[in-house]
Amino acid sequence: MNHSKETAIRLLEAAAEASRNAHAPYSKFHVGAALLTEDGTLFTGCNVENISYGLSNCAERTAIFKAVSEGHRRLTAIAITCADEKVFPYPCGACRQVMSEFFPPEAPVFVAPNTRLDEYQSFTVSELLPKGFVF
Ligand code: THU
Repeated sequence: MNHSKETAIRLLEAAAEASRNAHAPYSKFHVGAALLTEDGTLFTGCNVENISYGLSNCAERTAIFKAVSEGHRRLTAIAITCADEKVFPYPCGACRQVMSEFFPPEAPVFVAPNTRLDEYQSFTVSELLPKGFVF
């Protein structure tokens, strides 16, 4: 899998667009995610919070669950962005575990604030979650 800078920027731009749909009235932290499937289909997601805070869903899991629920289980790359220009929105532990279910270990995870997409950081899924849960 060779994901170019072009792919990274395309996914980051789609993630930034998706962050506009974030429902984040409690944290005010707007996150977007965009991923590619093995066949090149692009899915996006945003965080969806709830007044019962613990029910909130992260942008990454929204995008992954959208893809899987549409029949796409082989995912190849994901980007995550947020509206706060000072924050690189590294995925939470729960999202890392969910990523490891559907992405190969070497799949890239691109992270940047919405307004600084060119400064994106790139990690692999296995770098972000060494020794994730398996049985
Ligand atoms: N959030 C995400 O959507 N993705 C992340 O990578 C980290 C956190 C959301 C959850 C919550 O709605 C808000 O950001 C603040 O934690």
